[in-house]
Parts: sequence; structure tokens; C-alpha cells
Amino acid sequence: MTMSLKNIENFIQSYINTIAIVLKLDITVVDNNLVRIAGTNRYSTEIGNTIHKTKFYQDVFSSGLPNIMCKKTRFSACYSCARYRSCSELADIAYPIKYNNDIIGVISLIAFTEESKETLINNDKSYIDFLKCISTLLASQLLVSIVKIPLKSNLSQIQNKSKVEFISADSRVKKLLETAKQTANSDSTTLITGESGTGKDVLAKIIHQSSNRSAHPLISVNCGAIPENLIESELFGYERGAFTGANREGSIGKFELANNGILFLDEVGEMPLTAQTRLLRVLQEKTIQRIGGKDDIAINVKIICATNQNLQHLIQEKKFREDLYYRIHVIPLHIPPLRERKNDIQLLSEHFLNHFNHKFSKEIIINNNVLDILKTYLWPGNVRELKNFFEYLTNIKMSGEIDESDIPPSMRHIPEMKTESSRSLKSMLKIQESQLLHSLISTTYSANGKKQLANQLGISVSSLYRKIAEYKLQQRG
Ligand SMILES: Nc1ncnc2c1ncn2[C@@H]1O[C@H](COP(=O)(O)OP(=O)(O)OP(=O)(O)O)[C@@H](O)[C@H]1O
Ligand SMILES: [Mg+2]
Repeated sequence: MTMSLKNIENFIQSYINTIAIVLKLDITVVDNNLVRIAGTNRYSTEIGNTIHKTKFYQDVFSSGLPNIMCKKTRFSACYSCARYRSCSELADIAYPIKYNNDIIGVISLIAFTEESKETLINNDKSYIDFLKCISTLLASQLLVSIVKIPLKSNLSQIQNKSKVEFISADSRVKKLLETAKQTANSDSTTLITGESGTGKDVLAKIIHQSSNRSAHPLISVNCGAIPENLIESELFGYERGAFTGANREGSIGKFELANNGILFLDEVGEMPLTAQTRLLRVLQEKTIQRIGGKDDIAINVKIICATNQNLQHLIQEKKFREDLYYRIHVIPLHIPPLRERKNDIQLLSEHFLNHFNHKFSKEIIINNNVLDILKTYLWPGNVRELKNFFEYLTNIKMSGEIDESDIPPSMRHIPEMKTESSRSLKSMLKIQESQLLHSLISTTYSANGKKQLANQLGISVSSLYRKIAEYKLQQRG
């Protein structure tokens, strides 16, 4: 996955707008392609442009260290810049933005007046410390954006070079893994269900690598990410001249690509009804017809479907064919959410901490109090959120122990569970309510969004606002 500051450009812009006013300085952020992602005042009109190459910025990218430019050093830092003569920057402090040990951008504080130049240069150490905090904050915001919006890749061929592991100490999950492996050679369709981030992709890979089809491809199709008018041609291919805009030579579809292997139909609940009808026919007859073609092509493909939706509900809403449901539900594998697998929270925490310690050459440890807090959190993003949490912490911590202060407020505002009073049903329900609302509300800033959410939850808008205030759920908007 590419980590681009562009993913959070709106956040960066609104953030630097505010701090520029407080600091009475200008601020700009460029990414590692030297594209200006955000900027205040005169730089706000240059967002999206590639900046001129300067030694000043290049030094930051190559050394990973902050850089300071003032009148004295201006010539050596900026002579290679095409704008050198017309530029009116009097001083600049630039700081790298790091993610996973990669430098993904640079943020800089700029003085255009004599007065702000004096302030900047005389207090350079404090400003560098300040930039360090902002740069960490931007990296963590980038991480949050990944947790919140699982990126949908249109269609990806799962690379199967390294062996994947499905880590679990939970007896239900262990049984599930056993069933998955035992049935891996069966040609019957498998339906993997579970909330987002529970490991459905991982399980599909485990089935593939345990099956007698492992030497053949595992082809993954995200049914929710392909436009409705393209999904049938993506799956079944098309003959030359089948429709306007199609490749003249025709194209083979994913079913044919997956021949002798496994086709993983991810987010199957989002498949349009017409494609569902064709899929049903394929499952019954084990042949496909390309769009615009007449021949039946025999295929030998094991199908694994996955969804985080309730297909029974979709059937009631007439969005999913009941007969298809029974066809794909032959081997059902349900992965329970992480909040129901307290032992796994500990095991996976240790696993991810080891993994990232190794990756970043660190020796960070975790204390038991933190593990207890992690076990009480509801993990709306499941294992993906837990993994990202440890990736983030191992990035920002240099050494030592993860303690309570490392847990972000949104996870930490959980009252202590150990006291008698907090163990009452009422207080436990409040904890659950605050965490659920936290996960629902964290991207719902607009008044309209809150109105819709209140409607969905069946509560009034004013009681939603009351709960937001009570649980201190939102700082913005
Ligand atoms: N039991 C597990 N052991 C090790 N890693 C896991 C496990 N479960 C999930 N992960 C990791 O968590 C992340 C999310 O898993 P995955 O993509 O399989 O979830 P998903 O259920 O397919 O999510 P979505 O519904 O959003 O597609 C991945 O990085 C995966 O490697
Ligand atoms: Mg998935």
C-alpha cells in the first residue's frame, strides 16, 4: 500500500492554516515527489504543483535531518532553484515527515518578514522540536486514515510468495482453521464471513496454500469496487467487439485466469444481481461464456466468497439471490470479531510487537496494564486496527516500554474496569456505548452526517450530541 500524504491533504491544510495563524509564520508541506500538498498564504495557490528542486529540500530527503536556511546560507541552499532570484523567503526550517523509516515528505516553517525571520532563527531549536511533533502527528493521522478507510483495490492478484500465518489462541478460531484446512481440497464453495479486519483475506490465502491447487493462481476480485457495468466482463471476459470501448482483441476474465486454482470473490454481497445470476449458472454448470461469445468454456475453479455483510438481510432486501446464497454457503467459515477473542488480543499484540520490533530493529516491550486496557477496548477495526496500533507505536517510540500514556485518548477514556462500581451492568454498557459511538462518529464531522447517524441509531440528534459531550468523543467540527 502506498503511503501518500495526499491521502490526508485536507487534514494537513486545515491543520497548518490554524498553526500558521498562531505562529505568525507560513507553512508548506511537500511530498517525496516534490509535489506541494498544502501551503498557507502565497503557497496556497501552488498546491498540486511540483516545486523547484533545491539542495535545501534534497538534503532533508537524503539525510532525514532538519535543515535551516537563512540569509547567510541562502546562496548555497537555494542557488539551484529556478526561483532563486525572485524568491522572497528570508528564512526556512524544514523537517522530514517519516513513515516506517521512509521519508514521505517535508514540512517547513517560512519567514517572509524581517521580524518573523528573527523569531524563527533565534528560536530554531524550539521550532525544530515543534516540527518534530507535527511530523509525528501527520504520520499517525496517515495511519488512522488507513484504519478508517480500508483501501479497496479494484482487483488484485494475491501474491502468494511467502507463507501466511493465521495466529490465534481462541478455540473457536482454531476449530475454524482446522475445518478450512480439511476442506481446502474440496471443490465446494467456501463462504468466509466476519467483520472488516478479522482476517478473511488471510484465511483465503491459508486455504489456497493448504490446498492441492496451491501451484495454481489465487485470483482475488473485489466485487464491491468494480463498476456495475464492468463486473461481468471482468469475471467472464469478452469476445472481440463485444461492446463499445472494449479491447478489440477481446479479453479473458478472472474465471479463466484462475483456472485450476482458486477464485476469491471478496465482498460478494455487493455483486450486482445480473452478475449473481451468471455466477449461479457457472456454479451449477462449471462452464462460462464470455460476454458476446457463444461457446461454453469448461473451467475448473474452486470458489471462495467473503463478505462482512449479513447476506440473509440482503436476501430479505432482495439485493442477494437466495438460491445463490445456498450455492456459496456450502462450507461456511465465520471469523469472530476480535473483541470476542480476549486471548487473541494478547497473543496478537505480542506477535505484532515482535514483528515490528524486528522490522524496525527495536526492543520495545509492553506492560500488563496496557494489555489489560487493550483487552477492554472493542477494536472496531479488528486485527487490522490492532496491527496498525503496534506499527504506529514501534515507529514513534525509540525504546523502552509501551505504557498507558501511549494509548490514544479515544482508547483510553475507558473507565477503570477493576473497581466494583465500574463493574456494574450500567457502567459496562456505557463503556460499550462510548466505544461504539467513537468508532461510528470519528469520521462524521458535519451536522448533516450526525443527523443521519442519529436517524440510523434511532435516537434524536440532541441525544446524540449529549452523548458526544458526555463521552468527550469529538474534538473537531
Ligand atoms: N489471525 C491473524 N494473524 C495474523 N495476522 C492477521 C490475522 N488476522 C488478520 N491479520 C492481519 O490483519 C490485517 C487485516 O486482515 P484481512 O485483510 O485479512 O482482513 P479482512 O477480514 O479481509 O478485512 P476486510 O473486510 O476489510 O477486507 C492484515 O494485515 C492481516 O495480515
Ligand atoms: Mg478483505
